[in-house]
Amino acid sequence: MERWIQQIEEEFQHHFGDRYKLIKSPGRVNLIGEHTDYNDGFVLPAAVDKSIILAIHPNETNTCRFYAVDKNESFETEITGDLQKSDQGWPNYLLGIVDQLRKQGYEVNGFDCVFGGNVPIGAGMSSSAALEGGVLFGLVELNGWDIPPVEMAKIAQKAENEFVGVQCGIMDQFASLNGKEGYALKLDCRSLNYEYFPFNRDDIQIVLCDTQVRRELASSEYNVRRQQCEQGVEILQQWDSEIESLRDVELSLLFQHEKDMDPTIFKRCKYVVEENKRVIQACNDLRQGAMDSFGQRMYQSHAGLRHEYEVSCEELDVLVDIARDLKGVFGARMMGGGFGGCTINVVQEDHVESFTKQVKEKYQQQMDNQIRVYQTKVSSGTHLISSQKVTSS
Ligand code: GLA
Repeated sequence: MERWIQQIEEEFQHHFGDRYKLIKSPGRVNLIGEHTDYNDGFVLPAAVDKSIILAIHPNETNTCRFYAVDKNESFETEITGDLQKSDQGWPNYLLGIVDQLRKQGYEVNGFDCVFGGNVPIGAGMSSSAALEGGVLFGLVELNGWDIPPVEMAKIAQKAENEFVGVQCGIMDQFASLNGKEGYALKLDCRSLNYEYFPFNRDDIQIVLCDTQVRRELASSEYNVRRQQCEQGVEILQQWDSEIESLRDVELSLLFQHEKDMDPTIFKRCKYVVEENKRVIQACNDLRQGAMDSFGQRMYQSHAGLRHEYEVSCEELDVLVDIARDLKGVFGARMMGGGFGGCTINVVQEDHVESFTKQVKEKYQQQMDNQIRVYQTKVSSGTHLISSQKVTSS
């Protein structure tokens, strides 16, 4: 990360001058609780040590000027009147934050921002949420606004929903902004109450296997899944008007009305109701240090995502099946929205090396293709980096 910090500082100095604040904004993993956030359910993510670094400073004009180091691309726009979406793609994550802040009554003046980092893009590690949270955190710092991190997560999610146009839940933005070193975060996506669970055992490592598959399909199918869940809720509300979301649905009620539903809608709902339960049980496992049981729930989560929610793909399934047969693996499953990206594997520290070697080899043999493997540490949420070079505005 040091290399990135230095590079971002140099680029900012080169493009915009030597006064700036430096922000570190992490990607996230999700241990369990997939596609539950937009169903008012539970998730268990954690911020990790792959991050985006941003340098940011006001420029005393009406213009925003951005530079994306990894892409070597610049973008500039005036921020008077309605903001327009950019065809370049990435500027929309920053503009979305500006747009949302203004909608909520904050006066955003022109600023310069340079960013880059090592969160793999499109790998299901929430590089977009890291960027959104990072620029939001930076603007809050620059302007001295009093916006608590939970509120920041809501703003960042709205920015993505309304400006970027992806109907995501709140998990990614929340985890990136509220993560804590050595802890996973159990979030109730309805109340936004959260609890930290220690995840800092020296003998256990989180290993991500990146299929490097990136599918456009992901966002359109994501929105379809959301609609299917809503359809399920509408049907069930006929029997219980108190039901507001799948969070409120008992499995028994769902089975009672299986015949009243399209089989696909039933499968989707069943997965979500069961996954919510799994998150609660997995948290109990963590409390008791029952990692074998925790790992089994990860496999169950994957099976549901594969067969019932149908957001997996061959590459992810192959990786989970390989992991299941390797020594020292507690559990594995696909992570994030699906259709590509990474699997998350919870592995005994002393088996990480052999796991990495074997999973790469076996995947190559079966799929005639390569994966990337990342070892991650659970680390802190978006924060200001204290550095001698940072100057306050
Ligand atoms: C994406 C979304 C999240 C969440 C996951 C699936 O990462 O951004 O809100 O819905 O997919 O769990």
